Amino acid sequence: MDMIRQEDINHIRSNVDIIDIISSYIPLTPKGRNYFGVCPFHDDHKPSMSVSKEKQIYTCFSCGATGNVFKFVMDYENVSFPESVNIVAQKAGLNFHVKTLADKPLIHQELFDIYDLCAKVYQNNINTTAGREAKEYLKSREISEEAIKEFGIGLATTKRDIITKLLKSKNFQEKDMLCSGIVIQDDKGLRDIYYNRIMFPIWDTSGKVVGFSGRVYHGETNYKYINTRETEIFKKGDLLYNYHRAKEYARKNNTVIIMEGQLDVIRAYSVGIKNVIGTMGTAITKKHALLIKRLARDVILCFDGDQAGAKATMSCIKELQEVNIMPKIVRLENNMDPDEYIKKYGKEGFQAKLDNPMNVMDFKLSYYKKDKDFNNTVDVGNYVRDMMVELSAIDDEILRELTLKKISEESKLDLEFLRNQLQEETKKTQQVEKKEEVNVIVKPEVKQTKYEKAQLYLVYYMLKSKEVIAMYDKKITYMPTEKYRFLAREINHFYETYHFINEADFITYISDNKKMMEVIGEVLSLHLKENYTMEEIEDYIRTIRDYNIKVETERLKKLMREETDSMKKAEIASRIVALKVRGE
Ligand code: CTP
Ligand code: MN
Repeated sequence: MDMIRQEDINHIRSNVDIIDIISSYIPLTPKGRNYFGVCPFHDDHKPSMSVSKEKQIYTCFSCGATGNVFKFVMDYENVSFPESVNIVAQKAGLNFHVKTLADKPLIHQELFDIYDLCAKVYQNNINTTAGREAKEYLKSREISEEAIKEFGIGLATTKRDIITKLLKSKNFQEKDMLCSGIVIQDDKGLRDIYYNRIMFPIWDTSGKVVGFSGRVYHGETNYKYINTRETEIFKKGDLLYNYHRAKEYARKNNTVIIMEGQLDVIRAYSVGIKNVIGTMGTAITKKHALLIKRLARDVILCFDGDQAGAKATMSCIKELQEVNIMPKIVRLENNMDPDEYIKKYGKEGFQAKLDNPMNVMDFKLSYYKKDKDFNNTVDVGNYVRDMMVELSAIDDEILRELTLKKISEESKLDLEFLRNQLQEETKKTQQVEKKEEVNVIVKPEVKQTKYEKAQLYLVYYMLKSKEVIAMYDKKITYMPTEKYRFLAREINHFYETYHFINEADFITYISDNKKMMEVIGEVLSLHLKENYTMEEIEDYIRTIRDYNIKVETERLKKLMREETDSMKKAEIASRIVALKVRGE
């Protein structure tokens, strides 16, 4: 791996705007001197992250995340520092690329190679005479040639050794072939797992093929779809169908639509609704929820219209709420799935549904109401109880009140009575939450002493001005608190080396020092006023010096008390006097 020169890094950093880069990931709103957005590094829905155009850094008031443009990309994309430099340079259109580990063959390169090759073979097959029937099937389902191309739809023919032979001829190792799940071993030896199926490639979030979903298209079988077995690079709980393509559209619209099936996604995408991803029929995981959160603030769930789809919607809502997403829900009538719905009512008909989604609570009302007989008091009671539990879990007071009103009308129970019930239920929930919180270590609020504050403030302004660095250098020989001492020393060192100072470039310089990044987070999150007066700086310096003198005096006094030799005692006494003079 090549080393990147600090000069190159500074050059790139000073030629990009952190506002542009961060807003390509999360929406930012200008407010006063800064921009604000929802911090992607902890579960939140309030805009607790501020990004400073002037300083070219971001800080989160809530979780303390801080850094410059590279740090943001590193943490957001989960990449190394050199990779983040490449990404930033590319986003800014700068001609710079340093070789990184990501450019080297990946750990599972052989698996990626196998899937790549298979995808090509399958796609080729579907365009041969062997693919005629498959094409006809796709045509009958109104899948266009463009969609076939765009989504790489292919065909595994009736022959069961095409892939196996090909991989052997390309010298792939048997263990990799088996590991990929495309080749299996049975009593007939090594054979292809997929035959006689229409093949849908599945991509990871960066767009590499990591597996397939194969669908029957004629004849009878119990297995409508067969998915590639899970491998190190293909985990259904980590993947969402079409994520890499939908990314840019979701971010642009600030909305992402989630469906169950890949054919639903392909249909919506093909008619021009492109901010759409698919769960591929699995339950949503926490990982999925976090991936979704990265795409957009507004999330619309549009699962199949049947009861299974409603159930899947319920569990998806639960997972999304865990990461503070309140999705909106679209339900399709007559048990239709989005594919069927769009075919029947067109893009406009479907768009009208998307424009009028249900809120979570209305969906839950209808979910719990289903199959209940409102003439039966037991049914009504169960309905109300279910809803109380749901309501106690949300923060939105207006939504709570509105929903309570609806429940009151439906159940004919007094609104005041329901309010009390809800209060009881909320107490119960809070008790459970409290119990769960006991194990969390609460950091005690340490009261800052005057000299600690002086150090912190001094370091803050050292990061801004060489003038302050020079003052520090001349007047302070020692910062009493170790973490600030180390930081001040590095700032000094940075300045001596590069002859300039600013927060953003200094962060690059120390970014591989985790401890120091924490300290700088503490310093930067102070958000002090930008301008300082020399009197203020002198005041901080005096406070620190006074403290140092006090500590040293105490030490000498103790030494003197313990000293028996009167000559030496006198010498210490004169040192104490000298210190006193220095202090004045
Ligand atoms: N699925 C699966 N295995 C199955 C059935 C379904 O992996 N045996 C996944 C597929 O990813 C499928 C999704 O669950 O796309 C939704 O299932 P379903 O609604 O049954 O399929 P459709 O998308 O409607 O597919 P089709 O229209 O071809 O029937
Ligand atoms: Mn379906």
